[in-house]
Amino acid sequence: MVTEHDIYEVIRRRRDVRAEFTGELLDDAALMRILDAAHRAPSVGNSQPWDFIVVRDPATLTSFAAHVADKRIEFRESLPPERARTFEPIKIEGITESRTGIVVTHDDSRGGPHILGRATVPETGLYSTILAIQNLWLAATAEGVGVGWVSFYDAPFLTDLMQLPPGIRPVAWLCVGPVHEFQATPDLERFGWRDRRPLSEAVHWEKFPG
Ligand SMILES: Cc1cc2nc3c(=O)[nH]c(=O)nc-3n(C[C@H](O)[C@H](O)[C@H](O)COP(=O)(O)O)c2cc1C
Repeated sequence: MVTEHDIYEVIRRRRDVRAEFTGELLDDAALMRILDAAHRAPSVGNSQPWDFIVVRDPATLTSFAAHVADKRIEFRESLPPERARTFEPIKIEGITESRTGIVVTHDDSRGGPHILGRATVPETGLYSTILAIQNLWLAATAEGVGVGWVSFYDAPFLTDLMQLPPGIRPVAWLCVGPVHEFQATPDLERFGWRDRRPLSEAVHWEKFPG
């Protein structure tokens, strides 16, 4: 039986994983359970605008990792010296170590032009795809499987690598694999990059604070 405690515990335990992948390949049964959880996400007008591309070819993983390494250098070079020093030891991906990449894509045309609920807020299509990712992330955590979201890429590069047709947009590269542990504290906090704000700073009553 699933208890209220379980879902809060999974939410608390979820981490963005970079360095803790064991190097074992995630078995297909667990992979499909996690993808099934992603596919059960809510979506505007029930449009289900997501697709999931499972990538395991070492040549593709290596090619993407090399591109991400270039983007990491570009970002580091854009930083003032003090921030660059803080950034230096932070690992930003586990593309080859995780051995499985899941590229999540978004199709804004899925479901045709009359999407119930999207007429006034066009971004709700993309929000739906993001919710699928969060479902995936929490289901993986419940399975003891790590997920690391990589966004250090140029969209045209990933579009080419995945041979995405026109209109299909890459939203995330997720590194997915078994882990030996989940860190208790997010890496960006542990390495002094940025802390989580206290809840009291994020919650407001009646109107936005002036
Ligand atoms: C949209 C998005 C993009 C992200 N891109 C990266 C990334 O490129 N590299 C990385 O190491 N972490 C990335 N992260 C992970 C965040 O750094 C992480 O979620 C945050 O520091 C909080 O840590 P936690 O997820 O372990 O709680 C991304 C997270 C999100 C939601």
